[in-house]
Amino acid sequence: MRKIPRVVAHRGASAVDPEHTLAAYRRAIEVGADGLECDVRLTADGHLVCVHDRRINRTSNGRGVLSTKSLSELETYDWGSWKQAAEAERVRVEEEQRLPDLDARRLLTLETLLATVRDAGRPVELSIETKHPTRYAGLVERRLIETLDRFGWAHPRLGTESPVRVMSFSWLSLRRMRAAAPGLRTVLLMDRVPLRFRDGSLPTGVSYAGPSLEIVTAHPEYVSRAHKHGHQVHVWTVNHDADIRHCGNLGVDAVITDRPDAALRVLADQ
Ligand code: G3P
Ligand code: CA
Repeated sequence: MRKIPRVVAHRGASAVDPEHTLAAYRRAIEVGADGLECDVRLTADGHLVCVHDRRINRTSNGRGVLSTKSLSELETYDWGSWKQAAEAERVRVEEEQRLPDLDARRLLTLETLLATVRDAGRPVELSIETKHPTRYAGLVERRLIETLDRFGWAHPRLGTESPVRVMSFSWLSLRRMRAAAPGLRTVLLMDRVPLRFRDGSLPTGVSYAGPSLEIVTAHPEYVSRAHKHGHQVHVWTVNHDADIRHCGNLGVDAVITDRPDAALRVLADQ
């Protein structure tokens, strides 16, 4: 029987709600996503927040580089209105489906997202991507482990499993994470597969492969190669129905998508 890929909501249900807001993650959980994806960045005063870009201009009403600002300053900005103004899809959502507006506008800390996963009422995976970790000489990874430890998820007790996978384009970042927390699963994100790993192998200590959709479209054989080496394959960012179907046919382990509801539907119908 063919295995159905797990559906991981990229930045939450970000096709509908403003990315990286509690509203986007709550909706992803409500529609039945198996997992959530988020990017984390460090504020000037050492807090991890869920934001994709280096600068805050695109997704908030503030301006400037996130890492130069304190958490309390960042919390004064509106992180959701840009989406309402920019995209018509949100206004098509049924009124009663809307989540409280504040959840769609507040800055989200990693701590709050972890609590949301813990309190989801069912198992939900969380894929956390460290953004540009090499700039901070290990600080992002140390803060991440401290934060995960508060939930028992960096060093899971024997017989328990952490719902967290740490993802990065940086092998160095993943090595740091594995050295400090050997029980954590890691995903190496790739927008091209280095020559020495085209056979499906991965650098030592990396658990899963995270190729782009473009890689598995141009080189579908990569998926079975990675599987032969015992590695799961998590593909990003898979938004169109035809691409979701393609990933289902290839037998990938997870699709990371802005449209978790559509992905679940397409994969169930396949
Ligand atoms: O899930 C991996 C994917 O999120 C990487 O790209 O730019 O969306 O963080 P980006
Ligand atoms: Ca990401």
